Amino acid sequence: MLTKEYIKELKNRGNGDIGQLINKYQDSASLTFILENLGQLPKDFDGSFLQNLLTHKNANVRLWAVKTIGKLVKEDYLPVLKNIATIDVDTNVRREAVSSIGRMRTINGQSVLTEILQDNDPKIVCQAIRGLLVFKGNSKIDDNLKSLVNHENEMVRTVIYKEYFAKLKDKNGQPHTESYDYLKNVVVNADTIETMKLLKDESIHLTFTSPPYYNARDYSIYPSYKAYLEFLADVFKEVHRITKEGRFLIVNTSPIIIPRISRAHSSKRYPIPFDIHPYLMEMGWEFIDDIVWMKPEASVKNRIGGFQQHRKPLGYKPNSITEYLMVYRKSTEKLLDWNMRQYDWQTVQDSKVPEGYESTNVWKIDPCFDKVHSAVFPVELCKRVIQYYSYKGDLVFDPFGGSGTMGKTAKSLNRYFFLTEKDENYFEYMKSKKTKEMFDTHETKFLTLKEFKTTIK
Ligand SMILES: C[S@@+](CC[C@H](N)C(=O)[O-])C[C@H]1O[C@@H](n2cnc3c(N)ncnc32)[C@H](O)[C@@H]1O
Repeated sequence: MLTKEYIKELKNRGNGDIGQLINKYQDSASLTFILENLGQLPKDFDGSFLQNLLTHKNANVRLWAVKTIGKLVKEDYLPVLKNIATIDVDTNVRREAVSSIGRMRTINGQSVLTEILQDNDPKIVCQAIRGLLVFKGNSKIDDNLKSLVNHENEMVRTVIYKEYFAKLKDKNGQPHTESYDYLKNVVVNADTIETMKLLKDESIHLTFTSPPYYNARDYSIYPSYKAYLEFLADVFKEVHRITKEGRFLIVNTSPIIIPRISRAHSSKRYPIPFDIHPYLMEMGWEFIDDIVWMKPEASVKNRIGGFQQHRKPLGYKPNSITEYLMVYRKSTEKLLDWNMRQYDWQTVQDSKVPEGYESTNVWKIDPCFDKVHSAVFPVELCKRVIQYYSYKGDLVFDPFGGSGTMGKTAKSLNRYFFLTEKDENYFEYMKSKKTKEMFDTHETKFLTLKEFKTTIK
């Protein structure tokens, strides 16, 4: 019977016994099992049977054959591996062949890997880059790799940028975990872009916001949908500039309806989250996740009523019970680990997300209604975002402060907040709710733009 122990015993005999065993089994599962369980190979291992398997019809068998050849680290196999890396129909097999060439770390291997840089599959190119980076410092290799910084594929560009062009930048000379006192627990009654322009680069840790819903509510009016999207793009460009390296932006929006002007016309749907997304990608936000905020059906406007009566296809209008929380990260070559490592042990312990956290991207949360503001965040929504995407002591920002839910929640979770809100009534409303339960050293300040300017150091 075919067992791991038996395979091990034959392998160590080193006289071609594994080759004979392979000949006995032709089915893909057994062949894969044998190859998978070969483990480390003895120096004198006879791998002559492997070449036949490189043309096996099953991709998994070919993959393991290539892997096993790779373990032999013999330059004689270079032409075979080059051939597989170029012509196999399966990307994983090709990638494994490139990886095996890389592991040889030889001059001839270098030139094959350099040729493979021209491949049109970015995954193969990245694997070749990986093999060549072992020789980083060799000017010829460096020149070849550097030229890929303008490669058409974004993953290739990012790897090369990180390896050769990223400078250690600390734009405002402030440690990553800190923020300016003049931004802590401050609400400014002004246009958000005008206010953000006063802030230094990399001033805040997290932004969570719900922008105006185009012209669906009357607190802001835009001449056209395009003008609206461009306004949001300007806002998020500034947010990008003032966000610390590798930190997050979470945008809460949903498709909206602008009602019809008469029965002779139809209402119009605007898919805001999908339309703003390309702008965000373009300006240097990296897409991380889409979270769906799901509300009870009874809490949303009934659209299905007409359909319930007539049941005519095409007239189906489901009740919209979801909104999106689109999660983005300020693009950086640094891994998330880098961000996490900036915090001291105690802060990491104190910021750990408590049990009961949501494990899916569908968050079932009741909406919240407010007597003054028509579109407030539920506290639970803010709470999750703040707990999952910031550390204690961080500065969180909401450019469209509204009734201040984000600020209130941030404060209760031992974070600082900075809010901007253009509308004087909403600003006054926030002011009327002022409490100072926490952060006594940073009691909330409500400022006009002029007053805010005087506080900036
Ligand atoms: C959807 S509401 C945000 C509500 C908020 N999330 C809450 O929990 O109360 C959008 C807010 O953005 C404000 N706003 C609109 N344009 C603005 C601008 N250019 N600068 C600052 N605030 C603005 C509106 O007055 C409105 O209060």
